[in-house]
Amino acid sequence: MAQSTGYNKIKTAVFISGTGSNLNSLIKFSRLKKSPISVDLIISNNHESKGLNYGKIFKIKKKVFDFKKKSLTEKKILVELKKNKIQLICLAGFLKILSKNFIDTFKGKILNIHPSLLPKFKGLNTHERAINNKEKYSGCTVHFVNSKLDSGKIILQKKVRIYKNYTPEKLAKKILIQEHKLYKEAILKIFSP
Ligand code: GAR
Repeated sequence: MAQSTGYNKIKTAVFISGTGSNLNSLIKFSRLKKSPISVDLIISNNHESKGLNYGKIFKIKKKVFDFKKKSLTEKKILVELKKNKIQLICLAGFLKILSKNFIDTFKGKILNIHPSLLPKFKGLNTHERAINNKEKYSGCTVHFVNSKLDSGKIILQKKVRIYKNYTPEKLAKKILIQEHKLYKEAILKIFSP
């Protein structure tokens, strides 16, 4: 994995599908001196992603790809990543599943944030499933991406208590606050000398 030295921060692309609150938090972090990464590219599968606005606000290049033909799309994305000398990919609410081929091309250089305490509740609707399962705790996980869904090596996790009156929406909000802290901590953990 590339290390950041002085002004040469690790060139990072953030992949999003929706609101982009994790993207916003990563961009703000990336602009701090202590950050080993710089966010240089935003990629989305969805023109309607609210998160694309952060590209405008922070003057970061953004690209939208429809995933109708996945392997072709992934090839185009790889060209874009190369063009921008991207060294690290952070998935942040990106709801498409990347192919093994794509992941192998960027092996060990793709991170994901997932809203559960993995290995529990892989996939979607994590909050609803945690509540229905009467879990006392849920939380979030940052992990390396491998070709199995939400199964790569775990970097860091944060726990959130689930109280009796919690709806999936309430739990999602509580966890999202922790996600914003966790992603930065995970990046610092990986890249600290
Ligand atoms: C976050 O909770 C993230 O963990 C989740 O989507 C949300 C995106 O929020 N990701 C997944 O569910 C991936 N399987 P954001 O767009 O505000 O960052």
